[in-house]
Amino acid sequence: MIQVQSSQQREERAEDLNSKEDLQRKLKKLKRSEDYLKMEADKQKVQCEKVQVTDSDLSEQIKAVTKESHVRAENTELMLSFQKANISLQQYKLLLCSLYKIYEALEEELDRNASHESVTPIYFPQELARMEALKKDLEHFYGQDWREKMIVPAATLRYAQRLREIGSENPEYLVAHAYTRYLGDLSGGQVLGRITQKALGLKNGEGLAFFTFPAVSSPNLFKQLYRSRMNSIELTETQREGVLEEAVRAFEFNIQVFDELQNLVNTLEKNELRQRHKTHNLETPDVRVSPALSSSLTSGSQLLRMLLGVCFALAVGMGIYVF
Ligand code: HEM
Repeated sequence: MIQVQSSQQREERAEDLNSKEDLQRKLKKLKRSEDYLKMEADKQKVQCEKVQVTDSDLSEQIKAVTKESHVRAENTELMLSFQKANISLQQYKLLLCSLYKIYEALEEELDRNASHESVTPIYFPQELARMEALKKDLEHFYGQDWREKMIVPAATLRYAQRLREIGSENPEYLVAHAYTRYLGDLSGGQVLGRITQKALGLKNGEGLAFFTFPAVSSPNLFKQLYRSRMNSIELTETQREGVLEEAVRAFEFNIQVFDELQNLVNTLEKNELRQRHKTHNLETPDVRVSPALSSSLTSGSQLLRMLLGVCFALAVGMGIYVF
């Protein structure tokens, strides 16, 4: 009895050890994975900073004041065609050009003001900066001389101009623009990335670097951290009002860029269509006949031939009669 018990126990212990070892192996593998470590780091950062959001927080106020603008931005023709996966390469390439100009201005101003008290808490170049990613995408689509081939509408230049203006005069407003772009990229932007990849059949992430944030393992956790940093910025009442107004303006700039980009796409597509018609007309004779018309012509000439045949027979018959 004692012997049976101990062998059972030994078996159970061996099983336990096996499953424990298995678990430990799996855990080790998971822990070793870079993603896991990054996720832990994000979690720790968020926990350390005790995220508690209240109605008086900047992150909540900014979300509330831009709610209506967000709906309008989502419903611009350009964003709707992205959501319906109805995008052309032309549209995507032009969007990348404008985004480059916008992020160039935003990130240069954030870098220049990195030690400003309202910028430091939300300064995350490692995790968020988009300029290098956009350069990579533009080079992929346009080649080495992408800078010379870029086309941007006037609205994009106005947006970039505003960013440079506030970078010099009101750096505390930069948070409004950084919030609008980066949190948008980490929210709906992630879905748009997947749609773009499928719609344009882009392989191995080529041309999609803009949507990828390799240093952010969990966009949701990162957004929590970002909001808590926004809430830690000390602002006077006037400055806070200014930031909220600037956030609405930031959405407005984006809407104008999308509208002008869509107009540009429509014009370019119309011109291309006209050009294609022109070349087609040059290659074919001036008078072209549709298949339906040509078959009716064929049957018309057959009728004419029959009529001539009858006339000829009559004439011959009459001739015979006369002579
Ligand atoms: C196709 C268009 C869009 C879709 C489908 C979309 C979708 C979303 C969704 C679902 C969220 C909520 C995510 C969450 O609560 O965690 C969100 C948040 C956000 N979006 Fe968009 N979005 C679109 C366009 C835009 C545009 C054009 C901008 C600005 C340029 C923008 C800026 C933002 C911002 C700043 C947030 C964060 C809100 C906050 O939590 O405070 N979005 N978006």
